[in-house]
Amino acid sequence: MSTEMANTDPEGIDGVRMTWNAWPRTKVEASKCVIPIAASISPIRPHPHIPTNPYAPLRCKTCSAVLNPFCRVDFSALIWICPLCFQRNHFPHHFSGISETNVPAELYPQYTTIEYTLPTHDVHHTLPPPVYVFVLDTCMIEEELGFAKSALQQALEFLPENALVGFVSFGTQVQVHELGYADMSKVYVFRGSKEMTKDQVLDQLGLGGGGFAGGRRVGGVPGQGFQKGAIQGGGFPNSGVSRFLLPASEGAYIIHSIQTIHCNLMLIEVIIQLLEELGTDQWPVAPGNRSLRCTGVALSVAAGLLGACLPGTGARMVALVGGPCTEGPGSVSSLAMSPAIKYYKILVANAIISKDLSDPVRSHKDLDKDAAPYFRKAVQFYEELAKQMVSQGHVLDLFASALDQVGVAEMKVIIERTGGLVVLAESFGHSVFKDSFKRVFEKGEESLGLAHNGTLEINCSKDIKIQGIIGPCTSLDKKGPSVASTTIGQGNTTAWKLCGLDKDTCLTVFFDISSSDKDPSGNLNPQLYIQTVTSYQSVDGQSKMRVTTITRRWVESAVVSEELMQGFDQEAAAVVMARLTSYKMEMEETFDATRWLDRNLIRLCSKFGDYRKDDPSSFSLNPSFSLFPQFMFNLRRSQFVQVFNNSPDETAYFRMMLNRESITNATVMIQPSLISYSFNSLPSPALLDVASISADRILLLDSYFSVVIFHGMTIAQWRNMGYQNQPEHLLLQAPHDDAELIIRDRFPVPRLVARFLLAKLNPSATYNNEVAAGMDVIFTDDVNLQVFFEHLQRLAVQSS
Ligand SMILES: *[C@@H]1O[C@H](CO)[C@@H](O)[C@H](O)[C@H]1NC(C)=O
Ligand SMILES: *[C@@H]1O[C@H](CO)[C@@H](O)[C@H](O)[C@H]1NC(C)=O
Ligand SMILES: *[C@@H]1O[C@H](CO)[C@@H](O)[C@H](O)[C@H]1NC(C)=O
Ligand SMILES: *[C@@H]1O[C@H](CO)[C@@H](O)[C@H](O)[C@H]1NC(C)=O
Ligand SMILES: *[C@@H]1O[C@H](CO)[C@@H](O)[C@H](O)[C@H]1NC(C)=O
Ligand SMILES: [Zn+2]
Repeated sequence: MSTEMANTDPEGIDGVRMTWNAWPRTKVEASKCVIPIAASISPIRPHPHIPTNPYAPLRCKTCSAVLNPFCRVDFSALIWICPLCFQRNHFPHHFSGISETNVPAELYPQYTTIEYTLPTHDVHHTLPPPVYVFVLDTCMIEEELGFAKSALQQALEFLPENALVGFVSFGTQVQVHELGYADMSKVYVFRGSKEMTKDQVLDQLGLGGGGFAGGRRVGGVPGQGFQKGAIQGGGFPNSGVSRFLLPASEGAYIIHSIQTIHCNLMLIEVIIQLLEELGTDQWPVAPGNRSLRCTGVALSVAAGLLGACLPGTGARMVALVGGPCTEGPGSVSSLAMSPAIKYYKILVANAIISKDLSDPVRSHKDLDKDAAPYFRKAVQFYEELAKQMVSQGHVLDLFASALDQVGVAEMKVIIERTGGLVVLAESFGHSVFKDSFKRVFEKGEESLGLAHNGTLEINCSKDIKIQGIIGPCTSLDKKGPSVASTTIGQGNTTAWKLCGLDKDTCLTVFFDISSSDKDPSGNLNPQLYIQTVTSYQSVDGQSKMRVTTITRRWVESAVVSEELMQGFDQEAAAVVMARLTSYKMEMEETFDATRWLDRNLIRLCSKFGDYRKDDPSSFSLNPSFSLFPQFMFNLRRSQFVQVFNNSPDETAYFRMMLNRESITNATVMIQPSLISYSFNSLPSPALLDVASISADRILLLDSYFSVVIFHGMTIAQWRNMGYQNQPEHLLLQAPHDDAELIIRDRFPVPRLVARFLLAKLNPSATYNNEVAAGMDVIFTDDVNLQVFFEHLQRLAVQSS
């Protein structure tokens, strides 16, 4: 199924993929299926066939589910029956014209996903403008700061005229730039060493006293004293984003309130000029020491600023960070090499955030041994800041570019909870940063489709419970009958906040079945229903609601049925297992990922494989399952499980991407794709094995975060001999063109490299195939695929 589906659109109009597409009826049967029942949903993925209704949806009066194609409709009585709770609902008067031949779009069988555009309540009918507060680290060498500044300037030029922009720079201290007048700039300076409450931040900015949060009216500000044609005062209503600005007028846009000026939302040209004058942080740093960088305080000040000016409307904080936080809250632990020194430092308390450049930033080993004392404290700090930002509805995007780690692992919580973007690069001059950053601000086809202020609600049939969501969201703690007692990820709720979401945003919902064997459900409806409702502010500021209603069949029987097996989606299952493994590695201290994956794979093969007991050679797997063992083999070897090969920052980054990308894309992260180019045949998929390397082939490996082009020996010789200009040119060029296509569409932009190929390939040729007798359940780490399969077969067929 999986391969066939991959060629078409595996997610269809609904943007949903489930591990199981036929569901076991009871909790016991579900647990015997080994792979959890989960759905990967893409709440606002575009699809050409999704209709839009220009009115608010009809909702069930009992469970508030939205009218959908699975509702039974009595046209003569004008009644619809909710498939989730069986409530009978009357259609309102304006639906009285409906009949079998005249049904509204939301009842068409093919429109299981539909959008509603909700009218704005704003009297001016203006849409909220895009809002950005840029937070720029200045603790960098001149060259790096230059790259960052020019990327920022380019971004500002991409922004629409009505965009509201704020600017905060930081080093050892935080500078909030207020530029009401172009010739009279004002800077508020905050100490970087001290944690501040939101109120303290606002007081210091002159935004305190609750006046602004409550919408204090400051009207009729005269125009004189302001830059002519640039900023102009005016009255404004108390609420709604539109009070801050009107559309462009006479070539310059008008900020409509003095609050706006206080809020440091200013003209793009002014910031561009300011950037030109901005230098690197001047705070003295002893040679060999790390800069004093107060990233935590800077983010907290920027969040306070946005919270005071624009609570409840989509806004992004875009942080460009060039090194680890070493000052104040959020500091990243770094450790001296020598244990003796480390011990001494613990004794002298605060010296543990080493400012000494030669002391490495905390590694996975340090975190494992709990030897990075600032880690938890920093995570806690960012957790609190994440709560504040989620309550405001705002997003943090992090662009980290440094050779050193900058503390992405600590900041992960705030990026994931707010649904922000994250890009990790080694320099602000590298294409991974430059091209990714540009794409955030590009328009039209290239646009990432950034949407804001989303809320996701899920309703389901009676016997289905929701355990939680892994992915970029925050639980809104909304209890309901479908909340499960056990929690995975953001749980305990039927509603989630998605401050930032985009066309690729994907979430994994984990389900539980509540009916038990002893208590067969009273109503044996053969279908189950799940409805997701996502309200959000679209990329152009419109209020939208997307409703997706999914149905699947219950499987009644306790024996393994064809229907259950056919419904297994092995790609979705592999990705869900990868997400769950990463989650457990973070949450459970003694979790052994490899052992857990092996156990589950063996159980799955025992249950669904075809074999005679104790006869490994008789083992075979149904095609719906046959790719799954290889996915697990590659997952065990991947960066998600073998974390010690990477820094904690890289791991955090990989995991955030794994959790937010589609199943198709996440599959590539687990099991890279390999294409072979040769003279004898068309480009074709090759086995992910060292045997695929050959002298007269070019290989293109896509492992999502990097794209590798590898020339066989003969090909490399041709290239060196200048065959680019010969007919061979086409062969040499094709993989480069294909790599270009991959790189162009992807966000973050992957790196193009010519190394690392071997690490990703199955070591078939080099491995000593001797199988240790009496091997444990667990396979060794560097086993090759064939040996892995042999062991799997042997263990799967074992009589218990
Ligand atoms: C359906 O979802 C809404 C919104 O989260 C909630 O208020 C309601 O209780 C849910 N109904 C059921 C039957 O779960
Ligand atoms: C440089 O680092 C050392 C050791 O951490 C510290 O004692 C010293 O104060 C630092 N110097 C500056 C200027 O920060
Ligand atoms: C943001 O979302 C919240 C919760 O869904 C909603 O009450 C509020 O009106 C939204 N804000 C805008 C500007 O749409
Ligand atoms: C879920 O809610 C219950 C009570 O409402 C609480 O005791 C429990 O700790 C919560 N679990 C999580 C994971 O938040
Ligand atoms: C997957 O990634 C590609 C770029 O690599 C992107 O264009 C696409 O939107 C992503 N999502 C899906 C569902 O494929
Ligand atoms: Zn209902």
